[in-house]
Amino acid sequence: MTKKEQLYEGKAKKVFTTEDPSLLIVSYKDDATAFNGLKKGTIAGKGIINNRMSNALMRMLEKKGIPTHYVEELSDRDTLVKKVSIVPLEVIIRNIAAGSFSKRYGVDEGLVFDSPTIEFSYKNDALGDPLINEYHIVAIGLADPTEIYTIKRYAFAVNEIMKEFWASCGVMLVDFKLEFGKLADGTIVLADEISPDTCRLWDSVTKEKLDKDRFRRDLGGVEDAYHEIMKRLEEHISEA
Ligand code: TMP
Repeated sequence: MTKKEQLYEGKAKKVFTTEDPSLLIVSYKDDATAFNGLKKGTIAGKGIINNRMSNALMRMLEKKGIPTHYVEELSDRDTLVKKVSIVPLEVIIRNIAAGSFSKRYGVDEGLVFDSPTIEFSYKNDALGDPLINEYHIVAIGLADPTEIYTIKRYAFAVNEIMKEFWASCGVMLVDFKLEFGKLADGTIVLADEISPDTCRLWDSVTKEKLDKDRFRRDLGGVEDAYHEIMKRLEEHISEA
């Protein structure tokens, strides 16, 4: 399968059509942004790591019953995926307080919750991806109640699978963002990416941040953190 036409260029990926109208190729860039594009930079090699990590995690999730858009890794940066229409929601699961949650509620980063939380943001750059509740999602027609139910079920299942996997790597899964899409027949599948750009991952012992917060917060050691988290994933993932 080869790239035909560029359909879209996002902050971290480009999307291309292929000879098959039901399949697309996503191509991961090294570009990084934060705060709705206000902060811009590059993280050398990030595209390769995010592509390979996201694919490995999606293969693991598929094996455990979560449908995803993943089809085949084509190269270091390129992956063949099923064409979906993206449900314009950022689905955020949290196990530990951090980031916007800590800021919004005045809670120390690192507070471990008894049970995971979920929240939704409306994916809309012009509005700054505002928080949105389930009634509002239905009211403005972003998803119907059955779709929201499926998305929540998958998101919490992904959390259980990933928490256990990352724990085996000596990493705490603090929080993460998922996006879902709909296939032509309406089936909901996990889409977009799962990577250090979209997860908070802390070393279980030292609590060192091994994710994009190093870029967002100018902590330094960004590339090293991406390489370290990829190395741990490769050492512990079973592709059997
Ligand atoms: P937050 O604490 O800033 O709301 O972020 C929660 C999680 O979502 C964190 O793991 C980073 C991820 N995230 C994205 O993937 N994309 C985004 O645009 C934002 C704001 C957060």
